[in-house]
Amino acid sequence: MEIIDEARNIVLIGLMGSGKSAIGRTIAKKLGRRFIDTDRYIERKAGKTVAEIFQTDGESAFRNFEKESIKKISQYVGIVIATGGGAIKDPENFRFLKESGWIIALYASPETLYKRISGKRIRPLLLNEKNPIKKLEEISNERKQMYAMADFQVDTEDKDINQIADEIISLLNVSNFSPIQDAG
Ligand code: S3P
Repeated sequence: MEIIDEARNIVLIGLMGSGKSAIGRTIAKKLGRRFIDTDRYIERKAGKTVAEIFQTDGESAFRNFEKESIKKISQYVGIVIATGGGAIKDPENFRFLKESGWIIALYASPETLYKRISGKRIRPLLLNEKNPIKKLEEISNERKQMYAMADFQVDTEDKDINQIADEIISLLNVSNFSPIQDAG
């Protein structure tokens, strides 16, 4: 079996609620890789939450933070990256991530996405939305072309985190490569 390059990052993209962070963390643990969530990285650097950045500085300021962060994070090697759902709207972000490794797009129905994010951390794009499921559908339509450019498409509906992580690992043929040290 061909083993993929250990230096290649594993990058998860998809709408909010598609499971990028939970699945990414699980893949990283299974493979002994470092895990970076771009939203958490931005929050650490900015000293405030994504919701606070949207509220006080606006979406375009958030997108600038996001772009700067993705440029930096893409320079790591052999890590697992969970991106914010809108990160790949910027073609340059997509290119940086693509050059750093494999891109995996995660999918679920708007109803499932909404169920997964309800009662969790605030998603600014859904704040004050009367019909969040319809809004998720709209965002999905706006972004589907970008998500379709991923190397692999993975349906997460009715599957658990562990099962999806294993599916992605076997897709990438990385199941039996030796764990590497923390990339820094
Ligand atoms: C966004 C998704 C969020 C976060 C920000 C914008 C989006 O991340 O980056 O609220 O544009 O879809 P999650 O996908 O982790 O919820």
